[in-house]
Amino acid sequence: MEELDAAGRDAIGQIVTLAAEEGPGGPLLDYCRPCARAAATPMPPSSNSSDPHNPPTRKGMTRMSTLTFDFTGRTVAITGGARGIGLELGRFFVRAGADVFLIDLDEDEVGKAAAEIGARGLHADVSSTADIDSCVERIVADTGRIDIVVNNAGILRDKVLWKLSDEDWEQVLAIHAGGTFRLTRAAVPHFRAQGGGRVINVTSYTGLHGNTGQANYATAKAGIIGFTKTAAKELARFGVTVNAISPNAETRMVASIPEDKKAELAAAIPMGRFGDPSEMCAAVAFLASDEAAYTTGVVLPVDGGISI
Ligand SMILES: NC(=O)c1ccc[n+]([C@@H]2O[C@H](COP(=O)([O-])OP(=O)(O)OC[C@H]3O[C@@H](n4cnc5c(N)ncnc54)[C@H](O)[C@@H]3O)[C@@H](O)[C@H]2O)c1
Repeated sequence: MEELDAAGRDAIGQIVTLAAEEGPGGPLLDYCRPCARAAATPMPPSSNSSDPHNPPTRKGMTRMSTLTFDFTGRTVAITGGARGIGLELGRFFVRAGADVFLIDLDEDEVGKAAAEIGARGLHADVSSTADIDSCVERIVADTGRIDIVVNNAGILRDKVLWKLSDEDWEQVLAIHAGGTFRLTRAAVPHFRAQGGGRVINVTSYTGLHGNTGQANYATAKAGIIGFTKTAAKELARFGVTVNAISPNAETRMVASIPEDKKAELAAAIPMGRFGDPSEMCAAVAFLASDEAAYTTGVVLPVDGGISI
């Protein structure tokens, strides 16, 4: 087992906590789906060798079954935070000590979601520059900073391309690609003044490989990859990293896919299932952490292997 210092940091400074040492309420990040689902109920300490989270190890070794991330003092803005992946990320960051702002078009849901997880909810449309600029002003007025931006808001308007209207096309691009650009742009002056920042964008398998019925979405998500790499190059000099995840999670967005198409998609996932939204947290937490300071311009699939 690696030696930890008094703060629980390992050789590279990562805060690491053994499951048996973690008390209730800590910012646990469980790498196990059933535990991740139970985000509101931290995994109890256990030294029981029959516990699947803490299996027996060789004599003299202790298995590290949980990692903790500490985002105390950090301000995080997450678009599309009212539900799905954005809400799970918000829940994770709140538990990890951050000041979290959920930004969403759905005013009722974002208020409820924020109250439920202990975040603040902002009603805004990511396709509106005025909305996004005023969100960032409000976040900085309330907390004095903005450290981590997660560009996650999104919609689907699926049709084969010859049936897509101009509105289907423009709306999808304005929300996915335009929203990612707008919030990142608004955060840059604050990142520069603070000496750093983290941007995590949310792209898709479709942006990497294309998908029938999603010419608008594929274009937007591929655009987000180009934006991520360009912004990573432009902002590196300011200590800002820009990365993306390509998720695969069972959310309302997946529920909206027709059953036959959904079954086809599930069958193509090497892991044989859609992910749980909470399973996206580990990747985002890493990319948002201080330890990821030298990782930029990366697209990290968290997708059960579908993009292999
Ligand atoms: N679920 C998946 O398997 C999957 C796969 C690949 C990519 N993604 C991407 O992950 C992100 C989150 O997806 P999800 O599955 O959690 O979706 P979801 O539909 O559950 O949540 C999306 C959220 O975005 C909000 N939103 C939509 N338009 C907005 C706007 N103009 N301004 C502000 N908020 C807006 C919605 O109100 C909603 O709360 C999306 O960008 C999606 O494209 C999801």
